[in-house]
Amino acid sequence: MTDSLFGELPNQDLAGFTPVAQLSDLQRGRMRRVDVDGEPILLAVLDKMDSLAGVEVVAFTSLCPHALGDLSYGSLDNGTGEVDCPDHGYRFDARSGACVFPKTGPRLRTYPVHVLSNGTIMVKVERPAWMSARS
Ligand code: FES
Repeated sequence: MTDSLFGELPNQDLAGFTPVAQLSDLQRGRMRRVDVDGEPILLAVLDKMDSLAGVEVVAFTSLCPHALGDLSYGSLDNGTGEVDCPDHGYRFDARSGACVFPKTGPRLRTYPVHVLSNGTIMVKVERPAWMSARS
């Protein structure tokens, strides 16, 4: 599940997080691609009415889990937080990674996000065990 927080964390809580962008680099409801250790990741600022900031930053892989379509060419709905894959129309919840359409589709990889008070966006990219074993 994607977690988006604002403010400082003790250094040990930022272990594994990588700075990837500044909040000012992002536009609400638009996706921006960054690469972390060769992994294509999309960042997005979504509305979040129940938070003080009114927004949250989410991070998810650019690679569609259906057949590796590039989600950066898809569309993002800022209200629902859903992203459509341009290849076959699968739709994912960018916050949770759940496949919204079809309901039985594969899960989208999402990453924990932390936004420092200076606007630096930190993302924690955790590779699946099978990937770590190969590198
Ligand atoms: S590759 Fe994304 S829906 Fe098929």
